[in-house]
Amino acid sequence: MFARISGTGHYLPNARLTNQDLEQRVDTSDAWIRERTGIRERRIAGADETVVTMSKIAAQQALQAAQLDAADLDMIIVATTSAERAFPSAACELQHALGVTEIPAFDVGAACAGFMFATSIADQYIRNGQARHILVVGADVLARLCNPNDRNTIVLFGDGAGAMVLSANETCGIHSTHLHSAGEFADLLGSGHANPRSDASGQVPGANEEAWLYMKGSEVFKVAVKKLSQLVTETLAHNQLEQGQLDWLIPHQANRRIIEATAKKLSMPMERVVMTLEYTGNTSAASVPIALDVAIRDGRIQRGQRLLLEAFGGGFAWGSALVTY
Ligand code: UT7
Repeated sequence: MFARISGTGHYLPNARLTNQDLEQRVDTSDAWIRERTGIRERRIAGADETVVTMSKIAAQQALQAAQLDAADLDMIIVATTSAERAFPSAACELQHALGVTEIPAFDVGAACAGFMFATSIADQYIRNGQARHILVVGADVLARLCNPNDRNTIVLFGDGAGAMVLSANETCGIHSTHLHSAGEFADLLGSGHANPRSDASGQVPGANEEAWLYMKGSEVFKVAVKKLSQLVTETLAHNQLEQGQLDWLIPHQANRRIIEATAKKLSMPMERVVMTLEYTGNTSAASVPIALDVAIRDGRIQRGQRLLLEAFGGGFAWGSALVTY
């Protein structure tokens, strides 16, 4: 049995934070951000928006696209590291918001790679026949975890949610998933505390410095390029595929230069790579499912095409999925 993508959806908050806005706040420039990252603007969750409110909208779109009701689901998995509360999980809150009960609902924490880990778990349940329909969501508000005065991080991260319904299918779907973690890199990228909310002035009452997201960007960059190169090679080899036999690369949207390096490794022209980071920034666990949904809805990704999804993030944790859509 295969886990086939039966529907997708995504949500981006309305509020835009442009590079020009950031020039007013910290010592940076539009030119630097565009050249070093490829990002022009990102979306920022409003005071009343959370991982759960964003996930709900993305999930409803995905269910509608799959022509399913929430009552058809056998499981809900939410990949996030920025939910409002440690528990109940965002997945349990989402379950309630969707009006269903009893089915297992849980969060998966693997930072920017969370959606790949959640997808891999869902794939196992469908493959072995224990579930027919699983909702997999990636949602984060990492912009909220960034120190408003830290130019190293605020230029990169945005907020959003993406969702995918996986459904049991006898002919095609996910062929393989590949996951890796390396905890020895904890000092390069992390966040001390979940979700310190800032007020309108950007000040966070009671927040201490260690709580903010920290990142040694250029060191993360080097490891990311190396591990993603190994990961896509492993994914192709496992499926006995050659470079050039993929239709689309749907990468984590962290940095255009990292994506270009991965595409080069796969000998894929950038026209076959789905890019949203110019207007989303890095939305962490949401980034792959947002890009996937955008390219499905605009008609680029067609049924029967071969897709490679991949992500790399804090932990470090990284993973991929090879899928026939
Ligand atoms: O999704 C989770 C995984 N995260 C990532 O994949 C992020 C990976 N890292 C990156 O994307 C890149 O390393 C960054 C975009 C964060 C930084 O780009 P870089 O080319 O690695 O720059 P750098 O850190 O080596 O800094 C180059 C220069 C430095 O100045 P000096 O020392 O050369 O004078 C920085 O101080 O750029 C300076 N700089 C900035 N300048 C303007 C650093 N941040 C900024 C900034 N605006 N925001």
